[in-house]
Amino acid sequence: MKRYLYPLALAALLSCTSTPHATAPVATLATPIPTATPVVTAKALVTSAHPEASRIGVEILQKGGNAYDAAVAVQFALAVVLPVAGNIGGGGFLLYRGADGQEGALDFRETAPAAATRDMYLDKQGNVIPDLSTLGHLAAGVPGTVAGMWELHKKLGKLPWKEVVQPAVDLAAKGVVLTEKEAAGLNRTKFITTAVTAGQHMEHSQATPGVRMEAAVNEMGFLPNSYVREGRPWQPGDTIRHRYLASTLSRIRDEGRTGFYAGTTADLLTQEMQRGHGIITKQDLQNYQPKWRTPLHGQYRGYDVLTFPPPSSGGVALLQMLQMLEPYDLGRAGWHSPQATHWITEAQRRVYADRATYLGDPDFGHVPVKQLLEKPYNKQRMATTLPYRATPSSQVTAGPNFPSYESDQTTHYNIVDAQGNAVSCTTTLNGAYGSKVVVAGAGFLLNNEMDDFSSKPGTPNSYGLVGGAANAIAPGKRMLSSMTPAILTKNKKLALVVGTPGGSTIITSVLQAILNTLDYGMNAQQAVAAPRLHHQWLPDLIDVEAGALLPATQDTLRARGYKLNPRAPWGRVEVIRVLPGGRLEGGADPRGDDSSQGY
Ligand code: DON
Repeated sequence: MKRYLYPLALAALLSCTSTPHATAPVATLATPIPTATPVVTAKALVTSAHPEASRIGVEILQKGGNAYDAAVAVQFALAVVLPVAGNIGGGGFLLYRGADGQEGALDFRETAPAAATRDMYLDKQGNVIPDLSTLGHLAAGVPGTVAGMWELHKKLGKLPWKEVVQPAVDLAAKGVVLTEKEAAGLNRTKFITTAVTAGQHMEHSQATPGVRMEAAVNEMGFLPNSYVREGRPWQPGDTIRHRYLASTLSRIRDEGRTGFYAGTTADLLTQEMQRGHGIITKQDLQNYQPKWRTPLHGQYRGYDVLTFPPPSSGGVALLQMLQMLEPYDLGRAGWHSPQATHWITEAQRRVYADRATYLGDPDFGHVPVKQLLEKPYNKQRMATTLPYRATPSSQVTAGPNFPSYESDQTTHYNIVDAQGNAVSCTTTLNGAYGSKVVVAGAGFLLNNEMDDFSSKPGTPNSYGLVGGAANAIAPGKRMLSSMTPAILTKNKKLALVVGTPGGSTIITSVLQAILNTLDYGMNAQQAVAAPRLHHQWLPDLIDVEAGALLPATQDTLRARGYKLNPRAPWGRVEVIRVLPGGRLEGGADPRGDDSSQGY
């Protein structure tokens, strides 16, 4: 053994056994926790991915609306100001806990259209056809967002529906000033449009950058400004107005759910489908129903963790990881120390292996949630952890290698109102700008959520995803998700609200936000800003954000058999933490344009 490794190995030997234990060596090689200042408010707080959306949420609260009214307003506002992920053409999961302790999980996940089939993305030889489940009309599931918001408001809203939708209509009509990130996102995206606009017929494959943008912009209903007419790319500070989207939102404001799932909007959506050879029909739209699910509960260090059940895998996975980690003294080991990283990675690896095998839409098959959340089961899973060696993923369970499959845009918002009602909602188009299909004349983008299904059960799809029969495509079925909205309480009092986008990294980012707060004493802003790590069983790598691990920690982890994969930042975590005395602390992820606002 090389001399410099000896003390590390000795320390590891002294500090680790293959069974959980309550102590750890005094913090060695812990990464210093970066400082960051949270927003603190006395009564109410909104954290979302865009300052305009947070502002609108706060305005609704100040007008006497509750957290649920504000959620509807923020959701529709995000559909305008954050086209990359905010949506009416997608879906999501909303978790709430009322000040009275009442709780609920609203599933407005997209569904497979009635004409969808198990093999719809396969060619005659049974191979996955590249891009078919991610780009274009066939990639879209039946949108759930508007039905979800309508259902939420019907059950829990206080202000009139029109009043909570109106701010988004105003935003769309008045125009939105582009941030740097949004301008860059629009400039690098090839939108797909089937309608003839301003004398142009655009096909995705023929798109040339300058012309493409003009057609796409017209189709989205943005009033083109002179820059766009000259084929100049979007710049931060440009204002875009969403003319068609404003009309669609007005119909939703005036007619509620019907304003989207029937009448003009449904006509425009199904015409778009016909032109683009998609399969969503008027019947699919009419049949779409959001569902109330029973939230999952777990415990961690004296906190009750409320989170989302299947068809998200996120809640089950989060609770499994927390169970696996509770016996270890992560705080004493030190933040991002070799030992804490070792334990956390081993828990993640095991849980993602379970996810790939067992999780799917519970309405279409049995998901063994109860068994996966039994304490002895998770304890036994961790008992196979090696003291100071990584367990190769190939030994955790047999299975083919698959890379991370989810792309990088979704969005999350948290709201706590002055009464103490809390909302944690993650909503998505799946990939950035979803399927890239703009519904002509209606001004909104359709999701590409169909790619969250396993296109070919048992075989990696075009994005490398392996899933079992549990997540195979079937008409009306919901595709498996990783979205993990969570609300923590202590002694029945609200303590923490958390969630994030990030595809398969969602679950581990939420986990880290919780550990950062509870085990490492970080404030809400530190908890979201701190660089992150991620392991998802396969590929057998720890993804590492810059600054997450000290060089010496990296050496130690490599010596233990871990492969480190430096990766560009991921996730946009939002946290609201309740401080002693009841003030609220907001953490909005600095990786995006995210914003905490309140009063
Ligand atoms: O439901 C899911 O798990 C994915 N469609 C989420 C995608 C996502 O978070 C991409 N964003 N960053």
